[in-house]
Amino acid sequence: AAASYTDSSDDETSPRDKQQKNSKGSSDFCVKNIKQAEFGRREIEIAEQEMPALMALRKRAQGEKPLAGAKIVGCTHITAQTAVLMETLGALGAQCRWAACNIYSTLNEVAAALAESGALSALWLLRWQILDDGGDLTHWIYKKYPNMFKKIKGIVEESVTGVHRLYQLSKAGKLCVPAMNVNDSVTKQKFDNLYCCRESILDGLKRTTDMMFGGKQVVVCGYGEVGKGCCAALKAMGSIVYVTEIDPICALQA
Ligand SMILES: NC(=O)c1ccc[n+]([C@@H]2O[C@H](COP(=O)([O-])OP(=O)(O)OC[C@H]3O[C@@H](n4cnc5c(N)ncnc54)[C@H](O)[C@@H]3O)[C@@H](O)[C@H]2O)c1
Repeated sequence: AAASYTDSSDDETSPRDKQQKNSKGSSDFCVKNIKQAEFGRREIEIAEQEMPALMALRKRAQGEKPLAGAKIVGCTHITAQTAVLMETLGALGAQCRWAACNIYSTLNEVAAALAESGALSALWLLRWQILDDGGDLTHWIYKKYPNMFKKIKGIVEESVTGVHRLYQLSKAGKLCVPAMNVNDSVTKQKFDNLYCCRESILDGLKRTTDMMFGGKQVVVCGYGEVGKGCCAALKAMGSIVYVTEIDPICALQA
């Protein structure tokens, strides 16, 4: 992230080759630089203020710990927001272990803050649940440790790609645990896709191209939820937006 912590002592050594310890002496993590933890914690605290539903859930249910005994392995983007999710699962009693689904989207300082707090402990005792974004973790376990699937209670998957991969597994008769399709939920389709893409499209384009968008002609392919959000953001930025659409209703909306 543009506002991300940078440290002149940062080097290009792979986190796997580094020996690091958090302040409690634990080295049971693999992050870029544990020294960034304090900065990451501040980012998480800001995200907490923007996520009142999860914070209310923490307050309401942390006494009764409804997830006590649950063991959750997750593979998602590592951002301040997903950190709030992980720490909420922990506050509700779950034991969690997490991996990044994309090294380029990983906020290293947030990963450091999670490693420092010890929120994500080693999980050797089993019956796991998988929380996946893109299907990589599910796929990896299937490929490398298929026997482990006997010990897994269920999967939640939140991306188009991951759901597609799960359907393929199911068709091949290989999906032997219940899987929940979070991607098709109305809260994802009508909120995440529309409003989150409206925020992230410009951020993504600007970081990758470093261009100005005022007055630029832009073509958006598809006027579904994502397309609608992207068009709104680009128009607000002063771009001249064209839309291609094959669905007559969406085309009319455009
Ligand atoms: N990066 C992200 O954060 C993110 C999040 C959600 C979805 N996505 C991706 O964005 C894409 C759109 O998602 P969505 O939720 O808006 O889906 P959607 O189904 O709501 O919208 C897709 C639209 O594209 C139109 N379309 C299909 N084929 C077309 C073609 N050949 N030419 C023009 N238009 C065509 C459809 O009619 C539909 O209106 C998907 O590929 C999805 O995987 C990305």
